[in-house]
Order: sequence, then C-alpha cells, then structure tokens
Amino acid sequence: MQSDVRTKLIEAFSNANGTFISGQQIADYIGCSRTAVWKHIEDLRTEGYVVEAVRNKGYRIITTPEKVTANEIQLGLQTKILGKKVHYEESVETTQKIAHKLSNEGAPEGTLVVAEEQRGGKGRLMRPWYSPKYTGVWMSLILRPSIPFHQAPQLTLLAAVAVVRAIENTTELKPQIKWPNDILINRKKMTGILTELQAESDRIHSVIVGIGINVNQQKSDFPEELQETATSLLIEGGKKVSRAKVIQEFLVCFEVLYNQYLEEGFLPIKKLWEKYAISLGQEIKATTINTTIIGKAIGITDDGVLLLEDRSGKIHSIYSADIHI
Ligand code: BTN
Repeated sequence: MQSDVRTKLIEAFSNANGTFISGQQIADYIGCSRTAVWKHIEDLRTEGYVVEAVRNKGYRIITTPEKVTANEIQLGLQTKILGKKVHYEESVETTQKIAHKLSNEGAPEGTLVVAEEQRGGKGRLMRPWYSPKYTGVWMSLILRPSIPFHQAPQLTLLAAVAVVRAIENTTELKPQIKWPNDILINRKKMTGILTELQAESDRIHSVIVGIGINVNQQKSDFPEELQETATSLLIEGGKKVSRAKVIQEFLVCFEVLYNQYLEEGFLPIKKLWEKYAISLGQEIKATTINTTIIGKAIGITDDGVLLLEDRSGKIHSIYSADIHI
C-alpha cells in the first residue's frame, strides 16, 4: 500500500475513534473505489491489524500491531548510551546497510537501527535472514570500541549473552547459545547474530552488531524449509511478547556487559558465554568449507575460536563452520 493511502486510511479510522466507518465513507476520504478500500483493509490485516467488518455498518479497527518505533523503545529505557539514538524504519532491505551508512556519517556509539521488516535480511555465510513484518526484532547496533581488530568477534559472543539474559528477563524461557552465535530454545534457532566491521588496517572505526530475534511468529508463519529448525518466543512460551520490551532489555543487558568488558576484559564475558553454551563438553560435528570434524567441544579461545578434540586427542581450532549438535 502506498504510504499516503495508508496515512489517509489510518486517519479515517482514527477520526472514527473506534466506531464503525462505512466502506463508502473510507472511499470518499481516501479518494478511491470501494473495491480498493476492501483491498487496503486486507493489506492492513496482513500487517497485523485486526479489522472487524459488519454488513451495513462498515469497518472498525479492533487492535493495531505493536510497533518498535523510537518512542516505544526509548520510553522508560534504562541505559546511558545504547539506544539513545534510534533510527526506525517500517521496511528496509537490511538494517545492516543503514547502520553502515549512519556509521560512516559519524553516528555516535550506541545508535540503534531498527525496522519492522527486512526485505533482504542477511545471515551469516551470505545466507538470507527471514524477517517478516511486525513479528520479530530486526536491529543493528553501532559500537565504537577501541579494541584491536582480532578481538571484534568477542562482541558477538557478548551480544549472544545479552540476548539470552534479555529473553530470560522478559519471558520464562531458558535460551542456550550454539557456537558461534545462534541462540536456541529447545534446540531450535530463535536468534541469529551477524557482526560486521568497519576498519582500516588494524584500526576499527565501528562494529555493527546485527541481531535478528524471532518473537511473535507462529509455526506456520515460517517458510516450510525453516519450520523444523526455527522457532520464536511465541511458539516456545505460548504467549505474545512485546518486541519493544525485548529490545529495551537487550540494550540494558548489553550495556552492563559492554562496560564490564571495556573495564575488565573478555574473561567475565567468556565465563557467562560458557555457562549458556549448549554443546560444551559434548560431541558435535563441525562442517567447515573443506572438511567435517567430529569431536568434543572443549571450549572457546579468547578470540572466540571453538576448540574441538577429536577421538585421537588432537585439538582442532574451528574459525567458521556449521555446527550440528
Ligand atoms: C545468522 O544467524 O545467520 C545471523 C542473522 C542476523 C540477522 C540480523 S536481523 C538484523 C540484521 N540485519 C540483517 O540483515 N541481518 C541482521
């Protein structure tokens, strides 16, 4: 729906103030046919609006979708730096691209880019990230730490711990982390993290931490190929969760951990990460570009590299792989 038509349609409903408004009145207000009105109402429904339609009375909005606008995120937000600037968009290709652009333009540390929908969400290893409208948290956080280049992956692990804590604080669920940065509930993926750097030789300009959290999708909302491997907070917990609240909690948790990281280094974060990790001490299969290694996950290094001990006792350092648990 064009945005000016949408604005007029929402305006017409706002003016009706919860009472019914006929299809003809809406058509007159927008300046379109009654058939077009019906089509626009259907579009609203697919976007999460619940619209009641009664013969001879017309339409009225029963509930509107919960949004993640700057207002919603910043109202009551308990952080000092993170999320003090929020760049909100209804629909984007990917929040990562916008965050890179804002970062180049000098956006301050803690700037958050958030969208209701991503049309071309990006996952790790160039995979797509499914990001439908109003159901999940699709956000990119701009950080400007003064750390050497090779330590940047530590921030991905820190972000994973922050997501786990945020979910624990907003639901009764107990998520776990699968190396390097998948967050699972009941062994299905609920969150993915994609960290990208803006750097020059050994100097980091910024770290863009992109986080996708499946919040209010039903099983049938996922494409068939994801239905057995992906999950959401709604599916696991049986109730809808406020996306704005999840974002707020994430920002608070991230800020606490980030300050600790800048003051004390990676060790306390690593300990937390290990506490939440699903496969440490267990035998797993790591599929890298060249080979598959089966071994016991014995830990991670300070650079976030996974260490696998195979049956002959040899230790393999895994930098990038798909992990099967
Ligand atoms: C993965 O597990 O493969 C990482 C997924 C990361 C998805 C998030 S959603 C917000 C940000 N924008 C993107 O295009 N990707 C990240």
